Amino acid sequence: MESGWTPFKEFDTVVIVNFGGQYAHLIARRVRELNVYSEIVNYTDFSVDVVERIRPKAIILSGGPSSIIASPNPPVIGGWVLDVGVPILGICYGHQLLAYLIGGRVERGVGEYGKTEIEIVAHNDIFAGWGKREFVWMSHSDYVAEVPRDKAIVLARSVETGYIAAFKLIDRPVYGVQFHPEVYHTPKGRKLIENFVVGIAKARQNWNPGNIIDRIVDEIKSAVGRDEKVLCAVSGGVDSTVTALLLKRAIGDRLVAVFVNHGLLREDEDREVLNMLRSLGINPIYIDASQRFLKALKGVKDCEEKRRIIGELFAEIFKEIAESNKDIKWLAQGTTYPDVIESGGAVGADKIKSHHNVAGLPKWLNLRVLEPIRHLYKDEVRKLAIALGVPREWAYRHPFPGPGLAVRIIGEVTEEKLAIVRRASKIVEEELRREGLYERVWQAFAVVGEDRWVGVKGDRRELGYIVTVRIVESEDAMTADWSKIPLEILERISNRIAREIPGVTMVTYAISSKPPSTIEPC
Ligand code: XMP
Repeated sequence: MESGWTPFKEFDTVVIVNFGGQYAHLIARRVRELNVYSEIVNYTDFSVDVVERIRPKAIILSGGPSSIIASPNPPVIGGWVLDVGVPILGICYGHQLLAYLIGGRVERGVGEYGKTEIEIVAHNDIFAGWGKREFVWMSHSDYVAEVPRDKAIVLARSVETGYIAAFKLIDRPVYGVQFHPEVYHTPKGRKLIENFVVGIAKARQNWNPGNIIDRIVDEIKSAVGRDEKVLCAVSGGVDSTVTALLLKRAIGDRLVAVFVNHGLLREDEDREVLNMLRSLGINPIYIDASQRFLKALKGVKDCEEKRRIIGELFAEIFKEIAESNKDIKWLAQGTTYPDVIESGGAVGADKIKSHHNVAGLPKWLNLRVLEPIRHLYKDEVRKLAIALGVPREWAYRHPFPGPGLAVRIIGEVTEEKLAIVRRASKIVEEELRREGLYERVWQAFAVVGEDRWVGVKGDRRELGYIVTVRIVESEDAMTADWSKIPLEILERISNRIAREIPGVTMVTYAISSKPPSTIEPC
């Protein structure tokens, strides 16, 4: 939040120092799943001050793509961290960094990738519940060859290579593990994280997003002046719905909620969203800007260009509203934690698509930004939604991109293609709901592109569109697997789409995971 972030005093915090790569989020989530609050701090921002401010209960050093021995400027933090006095766990690169900080030897090895067997050679509480030999998931080529005998004790080694898989400092609870306990492929990884966070660091397990409603409400109250209003664009998505509900609680009628129909919504969405919001006591100003958006998108084929145009038009509309109501000083956004970390320039993270809300607002908008749920992951926002009385069906709705169907149409957005994706997506959704599968998948939708396929309908040949069905499973959208849903369901979806939607002659199912593909087609 712009007013400055006050650390939670009521929850113990585990700080994850991020050395790049995507693992920091996974670690943070695993900790939160234990009902312990966690925060990610980039290694460049990690300092004595941060430690003083947050007063973490434990520190975890993440993995990362760099090499402490071969990268020109490897990411490092100072040896002071060892004296902070709280338990530390270094994972992969973090493990090598700890070894380096205590004068150990890190070398380039043969590389261990994937499932690897380790043997525990000295028992320690961090391995409580582990057998003598266990499989773990590794991904490294540097390895810790030696740790000083007077400072550290080796706890585990890889069976095949003999590399140090885990060590501990003799005089303090500082641990390094070469493998990744945070990934699903390390079967006892969650147990190890629990041993560290709860058993060793003694963090209290009282974190629950439903418990922070009052705190967020107080924060909004103290940030927003008594005669100031807050503009909040609502879409019916769980993030903006929760944001609006928190604002409503905090500032009542000084919340100006607005629902902009950009003409790129799903079937019946405008009506359904308005009904849902009204049932929760939020009565947004409804702006039908569909013609304005569709006109601006005419002839535009490039997806990033579509995103830019849509983003700018949204900002223009917000500006018009703010100009007509001078008390509006703030814009509230439903930014969530992964967006914050990513646009904070997570080390080593490339921009893949420009879809994050954060920093996406032009300066000329001249509104201050409120981001009440910026500390929460999506599953936590859903829990908060339930605590705020949002009906389950809406709290567990699939994420839907801000630019809407424009990013599910490859090439130019036309009325014809819009009608096709709308209907096809509805069919996908209906069939999954019928089978009770809707909430088990992360997203499920249809895509239409430029390519055509010759079909035979009746005794006529017809050149029609290809509709691609995309159904993915994911924890946080950063990686995703294509969903192996039963073929009979796919068959029914395909039959319905081809039969019920004019102009469609082929239905395909997207079977690429992320990476290498992204979830949305463009
Ligand atoms: P990708 O396609 O990058 O998507 O794998 C990851 C997650 O982000 C959503 N997404 C967007 N959300 N504006 C948004 O608000 C966008 O332009 C956008 N593009 C992708 C996507 O639905 C998925 O959940």
